Amino acid sequence: MEKLIFLDNAATTFPKPESVCTFMDQFYRRAGVNPGRSRYDPCMEAGELLDNTRRLLARFFNGSDFNRLCFTYNATDALNLIIFGMLTEGDHAITTTLKHNSVLRPLYHLSQYEGVEADYVPFDGAGFIDPESA
Ligand SMILES: Cc1ncc(COP(=O)(O)O)c(C=O)c1O
Repeated sequence: MEKLIFLDNAATTFPKPESVCTFMDQFYRRAGVNPGRSRYDPCMEAGELLDNTRRLLARFFNGSDFNRLCFTYNATDALNLIIFGMLTEGDHAITTTLKHNSVLRPLYHLSQYEGVEADYVPFDGAGFIDPESA
């Protein structure tokens, strides 16, 4: 492989560790099915993996109930769920102009069409925000 310096780690890790590639290859060959749909062996194995992963992640994030852990497609999907799920007409959100589009675009939509007030704290030339300037 050509030498590559990967700088997109905010989006995903690359290259994946060999152990991840090996695990995924074996998993998909053995139990790459929909978990929780039925009781045949690969389906049960996929379900157990999902459940164990939920437990591990809940412990990692210090969550109190692994059943409340929610998987999403990506950060944008998670932020859409949270932002559209939490804010309703009359609410007021404060964020910074430094935020990623995955935060700014749903907030823009809510402020334009759903009666949510949004304020954006600017940043200075050094990249710092001043909460007083909102
Ligand atoms: C700071 C930040 N937030 C959110 C996202 C969106 O992530 P995703 O591509 O997982 O939706 C990115 C993507 O690069 C990001 O850099």
